[in-house]
Amino acid sequence: MCGIVGYIGKKNAVPLLIEGLKALEYRGYDSSGISVIDKKEIKTTKASGKIINLIDKLFKKPLSGNIGIGHTRWATHGEPNEINAHPQQSKEVTIVHNGIIENVEEIEIFLGEKEYERKSQTDSELIAHLIDYFYNGSLLNACLKAVHILNGSFAVGVICKQEKKLIGIKYKSPLVVGIGDGENFIASDVAPLLPYTNKFLFLDDGEVTEIDENNIKIYDFQGNKIKRSVSVVDWTREQAEKGGYKHFMLKEIAEEGDAARNTLLGRIDDNLALQEELKWNTNFMDSINRIVIAACGTSYYAALIGRYILQNIAKIPTTAEIASEFRYENALLDKNTLFIVISQSGETADTLESLSYAKSQGIPTLSIVNVQGSSIARMSDYVLYTHAGPEVSVASTKAFTSQLAILYLFTLFLSRTKKTLNNQQLKDYTKELLKIPDKINETFEINLQKMQSIAPHYSQFKNYLYLGRGILYPIALEGALKLKEISYIHAEGYAAGEMKHGPIALIDKVTPSVFLIPPSSLLLNKTLSNMKEVNSRKGEIIAVTTDKFEKIEDASLVLTTPSTDLIFSPFLYIVPLQLFAYSIASYLGYDVDHPRNLAKSVTVE
Ligand code: M6R
Repeated sequence: MCGIVGYIGKKNAVPLLIEGLKALEYRGYDSSGISVIDKKEIKTTKASGKIINLIDKLFKKPLSGNIGIGHTRWATHGEPNEINAHPQQSKEVTIVHNGIIENVEEIEIFLGEKEYERKSQTDSELIAHLIDYFYNGSLLNACLKAVHILNGSFAVGVICKQEKKLIGIKYKSPLVVGIGDGENFIASDVAPLLPYTNKFLFLDDGEVTEIDENNIKIYDFQGNKIKRSVSVVDWTREQAEKGGYKHFMLKEIAEEGDAARNTLLGRIDDNLALQEELKWNTNFMDSINRIVIAACGTSYYAALIGRYILQNIAKIPTTAEIASEFRYENALLDKNTLFIVISQSGETADTLESLSYAKSQGIPTLSIVNVQGSSIARMSDYVLYTHAGPEVSVASTKAFTSQLAILYLFTLFLSRTKKTLNNQQLKDYTKELLKIPDKINETFEINLQKMQSIAPHYSQFKNYLYLGRGILYPIALEGALKLKEISYIHAEGYAAGEMKHGPIALIDKVTPSVFLIPPSSLLLNKTLSNMKEVNSRKGEIIAVTTDKFEKIEDASLVLTTPSTDLIFSPFLYIVPLQLFAYSIASYLGYDVDHPRNLAKSVTVE
């Protein structure tokens, strides 16, 4: 959950580290710090709170050096103060760490006899002491010894004043190496390094890298040299910048149409495109008779929609599982089951563990991932990248839309091979899917203007209910998640039909309900009658619907989308809900992109 960045080269590392930390702030933001080697001395500056506090300190007392490491923290062990901030230092060695060390007591006992005085409450400090304990003139060798004593998850950046080297260690937490020209980098993910390079080496678990300005060597924990080919990432620096928007979240909502278009690009015109990408043969596809999808948070809500369409269109029995629960269920998976994981970051610990469980059962695994080269992408047998571009805001928006786009593509692909749709139906679905990116853009435009004027009223409430049926039920869950995570207003997503089984007791003048009114179908009348039930109990109503139903008399606010079939409605209905949450949080003056207590990549369990 923390962010790591490291530099070795000829430039002053400090501005690079600071820029890198700013780009990584979404991973954690309760304290930060940097260390650089300056004339054979390690100099460190740390600050609690946001990175701006660190910048202030460095402004008053500048540092410089050509080798350095930086860290932005999401506290696990020890409160978020300056002492617990990273880098953590021992006598000779200074480190930054992302992950959790699980055998703290054991290491303390081991080091206790060697008199290492603890200064912080962090588990990470012990990594520095342990490497220092083993240091005998070779930082690489010291790291290779220390890793065998550590239990848990750890991505570590290490420097030591005696050596012009930067060491990176990866075990169950992400770490990438950026390849520059006369300079090299490490970081938790590619985003902070995009201004300097698009060439990367992705480390696997159980690897250590030793880097100087011209060479990068990779070893396994036994010290054997590893060959790794260079990956070129197609994200650009501009994509990772705010581009004039007040917040990344608003920029990313605005980008949703284009993100979905990018996901579909080159994959939809020809129904065989996915087959070429996945290289699946007919026998394999025929053998799949069940699908299990696991994910967390927003990606889980995408999985719920995936379940709906895979069952309804491709006619394959499908379940969607919360990864943090699934991994402990000892689920029965047979060889005809395809296991899918969905993750924007590709690093979510619970999703990764679910994937690891499925692999241990010997069943085929497919991941739907946004971040190229991420752990989940590399661990799964097959990967479909969403190509949404970097998503910086902690609240996921465009990644969700792109996950949906892949799920729809994949469903059509399976429907074609399993012949659950005839040619005409396939054509019609494909035609409508192709219109979705433009309709998402239109939905954004229609709703954006309304938002400023409604935020003052709707930011006053303390509780919201979000209600939807069928394929719109997951959108109710996702809409509620958006509101609570960035505006700290309690919101619950419910299946509209469940309301009379309990939640209706909550309805009063100060608990508005957000109704997702489906565009015609059996569900429409049922949802409208749920709305009447709320209205007769004086509950305020916000309705989201297609333009066909703009005049919904019971609603005090109607948010509209262009017309579409029910089956494609999730793509559009989510947009006003994201904007609704965004404008309330922004109106309330919250730090929308960095909501309290959260981090973008949840790499701890
Ligand atoms: O990177 P992932 O898609 O695996 O992340 C899963 C969740 O942590 C993530 O969707 C989270 O719920 C977001 N904050 C939602 O906006």
